[in-house]
Amino acid sequence: MAKGCFITFEGPEGSGKTTQIAMLRDFLASRGLEVITTREPGGTPAGDRIRSVLLGNEIGCLEPETELFLMLAQRTEHLRKVILPAVSQGKFVLCDRYFDSSMAYQGFARGLDPQKIRDIHAQFLPGFLPECTVLLQIAPEQGLERARHGGRKQHDRIESEALDFHRRVFDGYNSLARNEPERFLLVQADGDPLQISHKIIAGLEKRIPVPGGKE
Ligand SMILES: Nc1ncnc2c1ncn2[C@@H]1O[C@H](COP(=O)(O)OP(=O)(O)O)[C@@H](O)[C@H]1O
Ligand SMILES: [Mg+2]
Repeated sequence: MAKGCFITFEGPEGSGKTTQIAMLRDFLASRGLEVITTREPGGTPAGDRIRSVLLGNEIGCLEPETELFLMLAQRTEHLRKVILPAVSQGKFVLCDRYFDSSMAYQGFARGLDPQKIRDIHAQFLPGFLPECTVLLQIAPEQGLERARHGGRKQHDRIESEALDFHRRVFDGYNSLARNEPERFLLVQADGDPLQISHKIIAGLEKRIPVPGGKE
């Protein structure tokens, strides 16, 4: 069985991660590959409970460190129980948010030292980074507008943060991508979803041999 592959999707709220993950899943499945889709926070029963604390409006303000430790707790469960086993079984794992979200949100936007976030991951989690991270690029205003009109009546706890917070997330992602150009695939996320999907597939095919594709 071919070695599996771990691909993450990152980007501001409403950038189209959920939409594009579903399209990539269908494409890979049409090539006969085994694909699972998952998300953070979440991905396991405990992770889903932690998600409701992290995103619940009724929770109010959390200390940045509390957010970080909750993120790490759900990631530990998710990585050990879902992601690593699936990849070792040869599956493609498409994950909606991962390590870079902790860097962008708890680090760049909430003000925790990004290097300390890196260090704590290195100390407590298996060092496992995605083969590729698709960074969907959209102005924070436009993403929030889309998220607002996406059928959900209420913003979650993080979406409700001020525009300045979302700008720091956006800038944080760009800075992460500049430091690791070989891992990040930057894709403009405005325009026709199908065309965006084609760009993602073309970018991935250059980096990862997708069985059944041009190699
Ligand atoms: N390329 C696009 N152009 C316009 N609207 C889009 C596009 N991609 C997704 N959307 C819509 O924007 C909203 C947010 O998309 P979603 O995939 O849920 O983003 P995310 O998971 O990054 O928050 C949804 O209502 C979705 O249908
Ligand atoms: Mg989503």
